[in-house]
Amino acid sequence: DKAGHRHFMAKEIAEQPEVLSHALTYYLDPCDGRRQLEAELDFSGIDRIVMVACGTASLACFVSKYWFEQIAGLPVEVDIASEFRYREPPLNARTLALFVSQSGETADTLAALRYCRGRAGKIVSIVNAAESSIARESDLALPILAGPEIGVASTKAFSCQLVVLAAMALQAARQTGTIDAGEDSRLSGLLRQVPGQVSAALALAPRVQAVSAQLARHADVLFLGRGPFYPIALEGALKLKEISYIHAEGYAAGELKHGPIALIDEEMPVVVLAPSGPLFDKVLSNIQEVLARAGKVVLVSDAEGLAAAGEGLWQTIEMPAIEGPFAAIAYVVPMQQLAYHTAVEKGTDVDQPRNLAKSVTVE
Ligand code: F6R
Repeated sequence: DKAGHRHFMAKEIAEQPEVLSHALTYYLDPCDGRRQLEAELDFSGIDRIVMVACGTASLACFVSKYWFEQIAGLPVEVDIASEFRYREPPLNARTLALFVSQSGETADTLAALRYCRGRAGKIVSIVNAAESSIARESDLALPILAGPEIGVASTKAFSCQLVVLAAMALQAARQTGTIDAGEDSRLSGLLRQVPGQVSAALALAPRVQAVSAQLARHADVLFLGRGPFYPIALEGALKLKEISYIHAEGYAAGELKHGPIALIDEEMPVVVLAPSGPLFDKVLSNIQEVLARAGKVVLVSDAEGLAAAGEGLWQTIEMPAIEGPFAAIAYVVPMQQLAYHTAVEKGTDVDQPRNLAKSVTVE
């Protein structure tokens, strides 16, 4: 049931404020999820987290690396399951092995989990399908509570994975003592604002749709970001290529001059995710490098960032101003909508893109 939407993907994008609120209540307020985290997940004996996943789920891990490291002071390695499983990396009893999977059945992720059995201190999974193989074989399986995701391109599962990972990072910080009660309640308060920020981002659909109508005419698109916005840029590129079949690549903005800048010309749209804040000036200089080569910049930022960027931008998407480390979550929404509207504009099969399966149970 598409609940009045044209595609499951549109319905699942629109559902995000509701499912995110649900997941946050479960993990932040004194109910089951929070109790389970406190009782069954003890970070005090952990000195590193190894996160393993595929595709979009691996990008959720990558975003959360910034939170675990900055908020909880815990080193995080993020690995793609198909690489991890054959590399046979060293692990020990102080390693927490964390697997993220919407379906809970991805073959490479499951094989990576089995490799960690008997090697890592604890095996935790974050899944949407609670009855899945990955959930069953974990010491602790945390549900993301997104509800069924039908569209092949992952949307609400990704944002729910992000808020569960954020809640886990806060739990880790409490247990390792890197935050005090005041900082805990400040950060928890910021995390509780995410569903409202996602609603505000959803309201930008008409603007995003106008940008998509332009993107649909191009053969290649670059996505740039820094910090946690870098993996969100990777997700924007992945989503666009999956459903619109436009060639898209994501880069850390600082990598621009180490290669991809050679691609920039008047035919190359560059989507830049850059809220105002400490890294903004760095990204602005990357934007200027693109503009100097006649590249077409689509800047996704808040009012302050857009004002500071000045003239010469091709397109803009104005996000609400968002404070704190979890701002990247709301920036997922324009990435999802850009991909969705570009695909609709091109007339591709949004919910069943060619060559892709919802659950990749073979290597
Ligand atoms: C992207 C997408 C895939 C999945 C990947 C992992 O939109 O859906 O990249 O994220 O195949 O799947 P799960 O999360 O089921 O392990």
